[in-house]
Amino acid sequence: MSDRDSLPGRDASLWLDTTERTDYPPLDGDRMVDTAVVGGGIAGVTAALHAAEAGQSVAVLESDRIVEGVTGKTTAKVTAQHGLIYADLLDKHGRDAARQYGKANSAAIEEIADRVERHDIDCNFERLPAYTYAGDEDQRGAVSREATVAEGLDLPAEFEPDPPFPGETPGAVEFEEQAQFHPRKYLLALADQILEADGEAEIFEQTKVTAVDDRDGGDHCRVETEHSVVTAESVLLTTHFPIEDPGFYFARQYPKRSYVLAVELADEPPRGMFYRDKSPYFSARPHPSAEGPMMLVGGQNHKTGQGGSTADRYRKLERQARDHFDVESVEYRWSTQDYVSVDRMPYVGELGPTTEGVYVATGFGGWGMTNGTAAGRMLAEFARGEDPRWADAFDPTRIDPEAGGKNLVTENLNVGKEFTKDWAEALLGGKDADIAPGEGQVVRRGGKPLAAARDDEGDLHVSSAVCPHLDCIVHWNDGEQSWDCPCHGSRFSIDGEVLEGPAVEDLPKRGE
Ligand SMILES: Cc1cc2nc3c(=O)[nH]c(=O)nc-3n(C[C@H](O)[C@H](O)[C@H](O)COP(=O)(O)OP(=O)(O)OC[C@H]3O[C@@H](n4cnc5c(N)ncnc54)[C@H](O)[C@@H]3O)c2cc1C
Ligand code: FES
Repeated sequence: MSDRDSLPGRDASLWLDTTERTDYPPLDGDRMVDTAVVGGGIAGVTAALHAAEAGQSVAVLESDRIVEGVTGKTTAKVTAQHGLIYADLLDKHGRDAARQYGKANSAAIEEIADRVERHDIDCNFERLPAYTYAGDEDQRGAVSREATVAEGLDLPAEFEPDPPFPGETPGAVEFEEQAQFHPRKYLLALADQILEADGEAEIFEQTKVTAVDDRDGGDHCRVETEHSVVTAESVLLTTHFPIEDPGFYFARQYPKRSYVLAVELADEPPRGMFYRDKSPYFSARPHPSAEGPMMLVGGQNHKTGQGGSTADRYRKLERQARDHFDVESVEYRWSTQDYVSVDRMPYVGELGPTTEGVYVATGFGGWGMTNGTAAGRMLAEFARGEDPRWADAFDPTRIDPEAGGKNLVTENLNVGKEFTKDWAEALLGGKDADIAPGEGQVVRRGGKPLAAARDDEGDLHVSSAVCPHLDCIVHWNDGEQSWDCPCHGSRFSIDGEVLEGPAVEDLPKRGE
């Protein structure tokens, strides 16, 4: 029996478990379209629908199945309240940019509400207030300032000294009329509408894009998949981490991994969505369930590949949930990661300073339901040659050392430290491995660091431990049974197959 068998709940996302898997065909030959959308998460599906509604011909190219990536594992709060972000954006970027961020995200809530209503989408969409509560007296001032700043940016914010959170708190910033939904039910309905829209649109799954070339002075971009080529006037790169990186996104954003439990409660949950923006981070929102009152709780954030046992994080999260709620049972557990930009503003716009016709959306900072929806609209507008309303604030080519400089240095120093420490450990120690089922270790063979792990059945899997992105040493993730890179967040299966970028190549297999 592996350690994972003792973890709370079933190892599955509630959103994936309560919807049918999609079955769109793979791309079967070359295509020429107005807009190619690479990646079928919330940003890609929303962008594709906007483009199709504008009468464009569209090809959505998804390497796996749509809405099974980060979007299939979110907690799906649909809110412009993103922790204590507005005071930070004001300090880093100034009033105008902070206001644009708030407007883009508020408009995204209304876009989702409007689509749900107009098309009668059955996706548990529900209006609720959102609260970022102070974890202790020390944080009261920061929470109160956030309320003042957000109110000054015309957001529906106020300081609430007595929020309905079931725990000790000296107060919260409350945003009225926010929302939550079932992200897959919503986005799978949008995918149907993409195919029904005026333009000629197609969705292709199991179609991995291997390279994207920009217009380069010509009329068309070129998108290569494993077997075919799509020629497009514009390409929208919505692969979470961009699969082409001429903008050095790996050094300008960092991966934040966090954990979710779906728990059944003995009593009705409080009315509201809650967030504590300080360690130990904690997020909670109700979920309507036929089985009885349910709450989704999240937290235990850490940089991917760093911070020890991930399995323990599920146990700690369960304890946090039980501290605040009368938990009857834990039904599901899952985990995923999102990229946070060094200046906290997402990157939405032209992929690189010299690229033409390729647009990116990334760095949603853990708040992609609204940022991804806003990005989808903006990307489709770029593809039509328009100038989107909030483009300045989100411009990926921005260079503002004042805004992101300190974090840029800190993040890249952290990468350098991980690189040196892990290579020293890998070369000096870990020669003999006694690995139990469900465990993995970096071991040394012939002077080379190897990633060796045993699956739950006891079979040993061995691959190189050197991340093909920029040569950092991968770490074992015991909660998900994967190899995770502590430098920029690439993840690999127990067999070394790449699960998420920036790496695009597998860890080479080695003999056992
Ligand atoms: C634990 C957790 C909880 C969260 N909760 C919230 C929340 O409550 N509210 C909120 O607003 N945000 C939340 N977020 C953030 C939000 O979920 C993400 O920002 C958002 O889902 C990212 O969407 P995306 O479209 O960029 O990426 P994804 O959903 O990952 O979509 C990218 C797609 O691209 C595909 N792809 C990758 N490479 C290729 C390739 N080479 N070729 C073709 N396709 C490719 C992938 O398979 C994937 O389907 C949370 C994040 C985490 C980690
Ligand atoms: S993800 Fe950059 S070195 Fe591994």
